Amino acid sequence: MRTFPKQSRIAVGVLAAALSIAAVPAVAEDQPAPKDTIFARKILMGAIDMNMDEVETMLAPEGKLVLSDAQEHAETISTMLMAFPHLFPPATNQWKPGAERDPATDTFANPGLWLNFADFYQRATEASKIAWSASRAKRADEFRPLIGQLRQRCNACHALNMKTD
Ligand code: HEC
Repeated sequence: MRTFPKQSRIAVGVLAAALSIAAVPAVAEDQPAPKDTIFARKILMGAIDMNMDEVETMLAPEGKLVLSDAQEHAETISTMLMAFPHLFPPATNQWKPGAERDPATDTFANPGLWLNFADFYQRATEASKIAWSASRAKRADEFRPLIGQLRQRCNACHALNMKTD
């Protein structure tokens, strides 16, 4: 039978104690801090944007469309757009007029979003479905107009639900 040397058994005990202490605040707070949720949704949107950029670069006049690659990006966008509206608990409604904002970490979500959350949720779902259809398009001439529709959904949702300053 293998036994740990005494030294490392103590180390394991210390580590276990540290982990149990670290776990306590998360349980006591019950919910993630609003600033962490805001950060998570900004990172998620940033990743949606990067995937969209890859697709639109391939579809540009000087670009080269590799349909299978573009479809993978569309599928990723679809999945992420499904998760996105779940990152808007009321405590993350923090945009205030005239406040100093760090574009990297502060939210630009329009407080009006929470007044008609069902509409916001539906817009995310519809955009996700269009991206999904694009991911399943059989041919380039089916794929291209779906990406055009998706871009319109990005812009329409931002116009309504995002502050520019
Ligand atoms: C259902 C509404 C909705 C849709 C659809 C949507 N967005 Fe957004 N987007 C938002 C909101 C709200 C924010 C602001 C989030 C915040 O600051 O808390 C945002 C933020 C962004 C940002 C800024 C991210 C950052 O770093 O702060 C980019 C870039 C972006 N969206 C790109 C896109 C692209 C590309 C699409 C389409 C593929 C898209 N969005 C679709 C609502 C939407």
